[in-house]
Amino acid sequence: MYIALLCVLLQLWLGANFGHASSQAVSATACTLKATGRDDAPQFLHAVQTCSTVVIPEATTLNIATRLNMTGLVNKHINLAGTIRFSPDIPYWTGNGFFFPFQTQITFWVLGGNNITLTGGGTLDGAGQAWYDAFATNSTLLRPITLTIFQGTGVTVEGIKMINGPEWHNLINESKDVIYQNIHISATSTSSHGPANTDGWNIYRSDNVVIRDSVIINGDDCVAFKPNATNVVVSNLNCTGSHGISVGSLGQFPGMFDIVENVTATNIRMSNAQNGARIKAWAGPNVGSGIVKNITFDGFIESKVDHPVIIDQCYMTNAAACVEFPSNTFIQDVWFNNISGTSTGSVVAALSCSPDGRCSNINVNNLKLSPPSGTAKFTCQNVVIGGNSATLFPACTVT
Ligand SMILES: *[C@@H]1O[C@H](CO)[C@@H](O)[C@H](O)[C@H]1NC(C)=O
Ligand SMILES: *[C@@H]1O[C@H](CO)[C@@H](O)[C@H](O)[C@H]1NC(C)=O
Ligand SMILES: *[C@@H]1O[C@H](CO)[C@@H](O)[C@H](O)[C@H]1NC(C)=O
Ligand SMILES: *[C@@H]1O[C@H](CO)[C@@H](O)[C@H](O)[C@H]1NC(C)=O
Ligand SMILES: *[C@@H]1O[C@H](CO)[C@@H](O)[C@H](O)[C@H]1NC(C)=O
Ligand SMILES: *[C@@H]1O[C@H](CO)[C@@H](O)[C@H](O)[C@H]1NC(C)=O
Ligand SMILES: *[C@@H]1O[C@H](CO)[C@@H](O)[C@H](O)[C@H]1NC(C)=O
Ligand SMILES: *[C@@H]1O[C@H](CO)[C@@H](O)[C@H](O)[C@H]1NC(C)=O
Ligand SMILES: *[C@@H]1O[C@H](CO)[C@@H](O)[C@H](O)[C@H]1NC(C)=O
Repeated sequence: MYIALLCVLLQLWLGANFGHASSQAVSATACTLKATGRDDAPQFLHAVQTCSTVVIPEATTLNIATRLNMTGLVNKHINLAGTIRFSPDIPYWTGNGFFFPFQTQITFWVLGGNNITLTGGGTLDGAGQAWYDAFATNSTLLRPITLTIFQGTGVTVEGIKMINGPEWHNLINESKDVIYQNIHISATSTSSHGPANTDGWNIYRSDNVVIRDSVIINGDDCVAFKPNATNVVVSNLNCTGSHGISVGSLGQFPGMFDIVENVTATNIRMSNAQNGARIKAWAGPNVGSGIVKNITFDGFIESKVDHPVIIDQCYMTNAAACVEFPSNTFIQDVWFNNISGTSTGSVVAALSCSPDGRCSNINVNNLKLSPPSGTAKFTCQNVVIGGNSATLFPACTVT
């Protein structure tokens, strides 16, 4: 009833002829979806269960009005040439979106399992305008993440546009071997209420993630490495209007140990942004702990960025409290290489750490950053610096 007749017939034929063991025969060929004029979530869910390839053709817009639980899939290809639009029914989603307790998040769509590809040149439309406007009068409004890869292994998302997510566009949670490439993200508002917290990607408890060859216009982090993001390579990104490529924030929650290790961000263009290359960790009483290790930012070209290079290991903590309660999230083996362009203020690089050797082997090489006027300032607190740019940072300790 929900999917194209051809697909149903093919399944019946396959089921009858080859005696599939499972009750739901999986069609070997593509099932093509058409818009029903109602909520298209049920037919989309059914097609993903029963067909190995699901096609949403170019002229088709699916209206998704109820949540998409697509966990535990095996060998699936979603070929999205058309559009998937998430209906901006705020009361429905705030009550029924999948809830993830970390930072109090909900999501429209969880996609997970083994060997899954989402491709096709089409669009995920978060219909964010209603959310941006509602958030302006309700700062505790739960806003959905557009797409969450949850417990996925071998997931590829390629050649997809994501527009106007209500909040984060992508969360990768508890996943492994994930590739995103050729993604265009754009969150813009037509009212005075900006697209708040519209991060490009957040990576959490996930290993071996690649994000490359993508363009992002948004209103928060371009890519954020959250607790237990390991072995991540981010390359060839154009980020505009964002809050930067950010490690953290980490060490926020008491009793939790956060690891971010083996991260490379290379060949990044960052324009009109709050931050360029950033690491942030909490200090103060009642926080968590962790380790940030082997992080490389290489080849950033920045234009009009407030803080082009920044480590803040006293995040959300005043200077006195940071001395009394230094961060328990240690930062070591960090490289900021080949970073050029312009800042909006006089401080072009700020390395600010908790005392007692909690930031070690921080390397800054080939920085060519200019402020709008006057002399560029490089600030430093409690940092043990490696590399050959020690002359730029007279306040740093040199190893
Ligand atoms: C999503 O579907 C999976 C598999 O059917 C199920 O185990 C899980 O409980 C569902 N999640 C939610 C939040 O409904
Ligand atoms: C992955 O899934 C696709 C269908 O999307 C299938 O064609 C391919 O053979 C699968 N790969 C493996 C290694 O099973
Ligand atoms: C990831 O999933 C786990 C298990 O559901 C959940 O406890 C955690 O809060 C999720 N993380 C995020 C960032 O949503
Ligand atoms: C704000 O949003 C929250 C969460 O979505 C909701 O519980 C609360 O009722 C909303 N507040 C108002 C004043 O609408
Ligand atoms: C990337 O950014 C640069 C500089 O802002 C711009 O010249 C270039 O066209 C952008 N590329 C894409 C694909 O948007
Ligand atoms: C991160 O991984 C470590 C080591 O496996 C674990 O002890 C810790 O609980 C994890 N932290 C989070 C936030 O999942
Ligand atoms: C980081 O990379 C090194 C070298 O490949 C590897 O030995 C180490 O296990 C990696 N760390 C994590 C947390 O995966
Ligand atoms: C550092 O991380 C990168 C991946 O970002 C990895 O290729 C390299 O092996 C790691 N180096 C060490 C010494 O762990
Ligand atoms: C950074 O500069 C060094 C030498 O100055 C060079 O070897 C390296 O390839 C450069 N990296 C990038 C991404 O341009």
